[in-house]
Amino acid sequence: MAIIIDKKHNTFTLHTKNSTYQMKVDKYGVLLHCYYGEKTDNTDKSLLYYQADRGFSGNIYEAAKSDRTYSLDSFTQEYSGFGIGDYRITALRAQNADGSQATELRYTGYDIQKGKYTIDELPMVYADDTQSETLVIYLQDVYTGLEVSLYYGILEQLDIITRTVKITNKGKSDITLQKAASCHIDWEYGDFDLISFYGKHSMEQNIQRTKIHHGIQSIGSVRGISSHQYNPFVMLCESSTNETMGSCYGFSFVYSGEFSIEIEKDQIDRTRFICGIHSDNFKWTLHNNDMLWLPEVIMTHSQYGTGSVSRNLHKVIREHICRGIWKNKRRPILINSWEATYFDFTGETLINIAKEAAQLGIELFVMDDGWFGKRQDDNTGLGDWFANEKKLGCTLKELSKRIIAQGIQFGIWIEPEGISEDSDLYRTHPEWAVQIPQRKPCLSRNQLILDFSIKDVQDYIIQTISDLIKDASISYIKWDFNRAICDKFSSLLPPEKQGEFSHRYILGLYRVLEELTTKFPEVLFESCGGGGARFDTGMLYYTPQIWGSDNTDAIERLSIQYGASFGYPISAMGTHVSAVPNHQTGRITPFSTRACIAMSGTFGYELDIAKLTNEQKQQIKKQIAAFQKYYVLIQYGDYYRISTPLEGTCTVWEFVNEDGTEALVNAVYHHVQANAATVRAKVYGLNDTQFYQLSLNEYFTEQCPEKQLPYGFRSGEVISGAALRQVGFVIPSAVIDFQAWQIYIKQCEI
Ligand code: GLA
Repeated sequence: MAIIIDKKHNTFTLHTKNSTYQMKVDKYGVLLHCYYGEKTDNTDKSLLYYQADRGFSGNIYEAAKSDRTYSLDSFTQEYSGFGIGDYRITALRAQNADGSQATELRYTGYDIQKGKYTIDELPMVYADDTQSETLVIYLQDVYTGLEVSLYYGILEQLDIITRTVKITNKGKSDITLQKAASCHIDWEYGDFDLISFYGKHSMEQNIQRTKIHHGIQSIGSVRGISSHQYNPFVMLCESSTNETMGSCYGFSFVYSGEFSIEIEKDQIDRTRFICGIHSDNFKWTLHNNDMLWLPEVIMTHSQYGTGSVSRNLHKVIREHICRGIWKNKRRPILINSWEATYFDFTGETLINIAKEAAQLGIELFVMDDGWFGKRQDDNTGLGDWFANEKKLGCTLKELSKRIIAQGIQFGIWIEPEGISEDSDLYRTHPEWAVQIPQRKPCLSRNQLILDFSIKDVQDYIIQTISDLIKDASISYIKWDFNRAICDKFSSLLPPEKQGEFSHRYILGLYRVLEELTTKFPEVLFESCGGGGARFDTGMLYYTPQIWGSDNTDAIERLSIQYGASFGYPISAMGTHVSAVPNHQTGRITPFSTRACIAMSGTFGYELDIAKLTNEQKQQIKKQIAAFQKYYVLIQYGDYYRISTPLEGTCTVWEFVNEDGTEALVNAVYHHVQANAATVRAKVYGLNDTQFYQLSLNEYFTEQCPEKQLPYGFRSGEVISGAALRQVGFVIPSAVIDFQAWQIYIKQCEI
């Protein structure tokens, strides 16, 4: 049983395989948070807390005369209200009909449900009844009747607890929500580090680890999208925690819009964590009996460091967020036209690339931006999703036919949420563009945004994209989004509902994606936001892969992909081999290095094949063969970060299968050095008592003189699983700058 209810102590204890979460209803009906961490027993952990009279921290009316230590300002709560004597950051802020901003939540009941709860209109973890259980706890504001239902989904075997909140106005008068978080946790202590991921266009997922200090730390987005700037995923860990040891929490917000993650260390060193929709652009009025579901947060805890938390999240996202046939079907190796041609192509150019690509074993050709309307650059045409037949020299259907005839599938780039002022769609429906009447809008990439909060817009896009897919036998869609949203205003919402725009936009986007992916299950959707502006768990519910970054430089991708791996599985990461000198940085890296790094993702190419030498074309064949060979290990294996790209001389990472019989270790040197110190890799996830033989991936062998191979690589040399874990093996040295090696480790008999 994952949910234990102790009626004597009024505690609710949730257990997963290795973690425990506990809450308690106290004598005044306040729901206290008692514990989240390493698996423990069911005893009431709140008894271990010490409460004292804290000056200027007031007492609730019922307790004031008898107990000055009872203060909402210092108690660890499960979901905090506002304006009633808790001065810390709060989960819920609402304005009542009388204008007051006070919400005082008290327990009213609970419910246990079979299986995992579901949420209307939003992405979420799904699980069947044998894998999950649900606890719902009901709280209500004593005065207004505002009901807050806290949902907990427990996936015991995966060490996952999901949370969401449903807010219902059970009172008679209107209540306007000004802030409504999905997840709130209080800890009685405060020695934490926050690990978050910041970035910018073309350099996403930079890891940042900061000590939680007194005051409030926060990250978030008010850009209408989850954003390049901060990812809606964080870890909280003890200061001594590292990759393999120490207490660590992971929180992944299943949402693609504006979010905030706030942490406050208070006057007595207690720590509060709040995650939810950002409140800056959020105002939602609930009339009598109206309700609102908030987006879900996935939580996990491990005593075994950041690596273990990442693997828990990889698994739940791969198996319980990603859906449809592409969840487990091998994804095609693709070639994308963007860095090969940018806007400068004809139908013939594309057919030639597709032809060459097919001959080398590439399986899908993707025609990127520039094929529609009058689009010759990024100033025009968004919204006109019909082919530029003059440019292509034929219809889209004909082009698709000719490309498929080369023995390769056909996919296209679209940016359905974008609209150019210079487009037929804008000329017909200016009111569909997001802008504030009587004000000049802020343009970005010279484009506006189509108002996805409007149902007619959603229906129009569903119809238009469906027609395209059917007409041109499209197997793949790259769904891009190339600007942040401002001038937030919807032409259809009345003034008092404009605060709902940002969230309604995301609900509209989710509806469109749900309809299209349901209608065309065989089409592979990859999302993109100028690279990683929408690299979030919400999008992965609809599209199993996301283009990682517009930065295709292999060495910069090492750190982008390293950062992303903390919260997201390898199977989600869109990665391509591109040309050198790299278009973003000018750096020249070996072809094999570019392939090695792109293989730690969905794998594809984005370069003009016609410009490659014959020798390079032969290399592509070998790269593809290697990827096919290790595909299952890479996409579904357990992922270990062995060393970081941010320091040292070599980044090393590993994929290992569940039963520990085979592993693939990848190593990329940051530079070649004379008389270099050796790089050693400890290998995880193998069986201590079994023996293993190491071999270099054949494609890389050509660059490695036999005599340079360390122990374990030659026939007859074996290393035990225990030795590989405890001592590690020596990675062959670098022969060239940015040298990459792939080392395959296989269990063998001795
Ligand atoms: C975005 C994408 C790129 C490419 C361009 C096309 O920047 O991230 O991969 O598709 O748009 O305009």
